[in-house]
Amino acid sequence: MRTIAHISDLHFGRLDRPVAEGLVADLARQKPDLLVVSGDFTQRARERQFRHAAEYLKRLPTPQLVIPGNHDVPLFDVFRRFLAPLSKYKRLISNDLRPMYRDDELMVLGLNSTRSFTHKSGWLSEEQLLDVRTRMCDAPNGMVKIVVTHHPFIPPPRERHADVIRRGETYLDELADCGVDLLLAGHLHLAYHDDLRSHYKSAKRSTLSIQAGTATSTRRRGEPNAYNWISVSPGLCTVSVRAWCENRFEQSLVTRYACVDGAWQRQAQVPVDKVAEQVLTEHPATDADAPSTPVEAGVPITPPGDERSTGER
Ligand SMILES: [Fe+2]
Ligand SMILES: [Fe+2]
Repeated sequence: MRTIAHISDLHFGRLDRPVAEGLVADLARQKPDLLVVSGDFTQRARERQFRHAAEYLKRLPTPQLVIPGNHDVPLFDVFRRFLAPLSKYKRLISNDLRPMYRDDELMVLGLNSTRSFTHKSGWLSEEQLLDVRTRMCDAPNGMVKIVVTHHPFIPPPRERHADVIRRGETYLDELADCGVDLLLAGHLHLAYHDDLRSHYKSAKRSTLSIQAGTATSTRRRGEPNAYNWISVSPGLCTVSVRAWCENRFEQSLVTRYACVDGAWQRQAQVPVDKVAEQVLTEHPATDADAPSTPVEAGVPITPPGDERSTGER
C-alpha cells in the first residue's frame, strides 16, 4: 500500500498564508510516500510568484512529482506565451515536463496539459500519448499506475459542462491499453472523484478520476481549502479529503473504492466530521445519471466570506 498526498492549485499571488502554513504542518505530520502537485503554482506566472512557490516546495515532503497548470503560463506577455510559455516554471519549479515516479508498487506519470493557445483549457498531444504507451505499458502486473494532469477528465457532479480536458474521449484507449488505474487532476478548485465511465460511456476500462480542491488559494469555490490523501494498493483505493477547518487541516470525507471484476465500486463514504455529515445530508445526489450511492463525492461547504467564482481557474 502506498500513500499519496495530492495537492493542487496553490496559486502564489492569491495565497491564504495561514492555510499555506497549516498545509506544511499537516504534510509533515502525515508523511506521504509521494507528494503530487497537479499544477497552478502561481496566479499570473510572475517571477516573484514562482520564486515563492519554489521556496514553499522545499518545505514540503519528498519525493515530489509536479506538473504545471494553465496559470503557470503567462497571460498578458504574448511573446513569452507562445515562444517560451513555461520558461519560468522550468527554471524555478521543475525542468521536467514529463516527470515519473516509480517504486516497486507504484508508477506515476505527470503530463503537461497546458497550452499556449488557450488560457483556461488544456489537452494532450500525440507525443504525450506515445509517452504513456512507451513508459507505462510494459510495467509488471500488480503495480498501480497513475497519470497526473492539471485538467480533469470528468466534470464535478453539479457542473456537467465544466472545463474538462479537451478531446478526453480520444485518450481513453491509450490509458486503458496501458492499464492506468487512477487519474489525478485539479484546476476547478473542487474536490470530487468518480469512475471515468460516469462521463465517458465508451470507456472500456474502469479508471478512477480524482480531483483535488485548491490547497492554499483564496479563490475558493464554495469549498474550504483541501487536499486529497490517497491510500492505494492493487484493487483498493481510499480517498480522504483533508479540509481546512478553522485553523488546521482535518480529515473531512473518506471514500473507499474497491475494484470488483475490473470495475471500481464505491464501497463506503464516511463523513468524518460534523460539517461533512451535514453537507451529505443537505445535498443528496440529484443528477439523473449520478451513481446510486446515497451521497456524492466532494465537500461543498461555504465558509463565511468565500468567493463564489465560476469563471477562470
Ligand atoms: Fe487551472
Ligand atoms: Fe487553479
